[in-house]
Amino acid sequence: MSILVLGGAGYIGSHAVYQLIDQNHRVVVVDSLETGHRQAVHPDAAYYQGDIRDKQFLDDVFTKEDIDAVLHFSANSLVGESMQQPLKYFSNNVYGTQVLLETMKEHNVNRIVFSSTAATYGEPETVPITEDMRTNPESTYGETKLTMEKMMKWCALAYGIKYVSLRYFNVAGARKTGEIGEDHQPETHLIPIVLQTALEQRKAITIFGEDYDTEDGTCIRDYIHVEDLIDAHLLALSYLENGGESEIFNLGSNQGFSVKQIIDTARKVTGKQIPAVSGERRPGDPSVLIASADKAKRILGWQPSRTSIETIIEDAWNWHHTHPHGYDGGAEA
Ligand code: UFG
Repeated sequence: MSILVLGGAGYIGSHAVYQLIDQNHRVVVVDSLETGHRQAVHPDAAYYQGDIRDKQFLDDVFTKEDIDAVLHFSANSLVGESMQQPLKYFSNNVYGTQVLLETMKEHNVNRIVFSSTAATYGEPETVPITEDMRTNPESTYGETKLTMEKMMKWCALAYGIKYVSLRYFNVAGARKTGEIGEDHQPETHLIPIVLQTALEQRKAITIFGEDYDTEDGTCIRDYIHVEDLIDAHLLALSYLENGGESEIFNLGSNQGFSVKQIIDTARKVTGKQIPAVSGERRPGDPSVLIASADKAKRILGWQPSRTSIETIIEDAWNWHHTHPHGYDGGAEA
């Protein structure tokens, strides 16, 4: 099979490319490098640099390559930025997906696995969150991802393009063998920031709010290892290939960890002190997000195997301390 990976130079997309190549698939990567890294693209993948909103560019890729299915990771994904620059998110995420679906339709490519988000739910009424619960995004980012899902739903009906939408909870960790990992500029996610603090690149980690209605007062999230997350994408590809109907699945671990628990675990894993200071709540943060991933387990046969929080942080630490400056600094022993 030849798989087109859009956003294959990004954090999650690059992990998909490595696992697809491990499984002997032919992989075609498209990335604009707006947020991705050229060094993150597997050397054995065919690579095209360009923007998915550029119809001519995308047409050329679909003409040159014999694409069987698409993995779509290409999107802006910062909640805070999306509130400041909503039109950037509608353009890149929603319009980009429109151009992609048009191109897939014209080239008779009818299978797509799509990265969606827990942000489609907004503040949940209860946890764990199941896929049939109300969607009520509280950010432009979440709204664009929900809109992209809806575009796929109608395109499935009209054109027979089958999709699987995977709603990620908090993705973290890195490939065990350490070639690729998380490198966002700027970094906003908890685990990389905690590990940058362990590396003394930051003086302290600021805890955004200690007055939530949780046991220790800090927000609770459901962390999932990036490699387990990609396993689900590969299963979703097989599911569609075997004639599965379009579906939406949550991807999480069914467990929640507080910000303080993450910092404490990182202290144990790294053996570093990791100073923490108390800060204001970050606007828009729900207090508790925990997935029910039972549907993905039942229908896709997904079985996450690396979801212990220690393993996630160990693998992330392996990447961060060997690449203290991400891709730009090269690897250090
Ligand atoms: N946090 C801190 N200090 C920091 C950074 C984060 O206390 O310096 C806290 C946040 O307030 C939050 C938790 O750590 O409670 C996790 O924050 P992240 O930014 O790592 O992750 P989010 O839960 O905000 O975001 C994730 C995904 C988004 C997605 C969102 C859905 O990264 O793409 O879940 O709610 F949209």
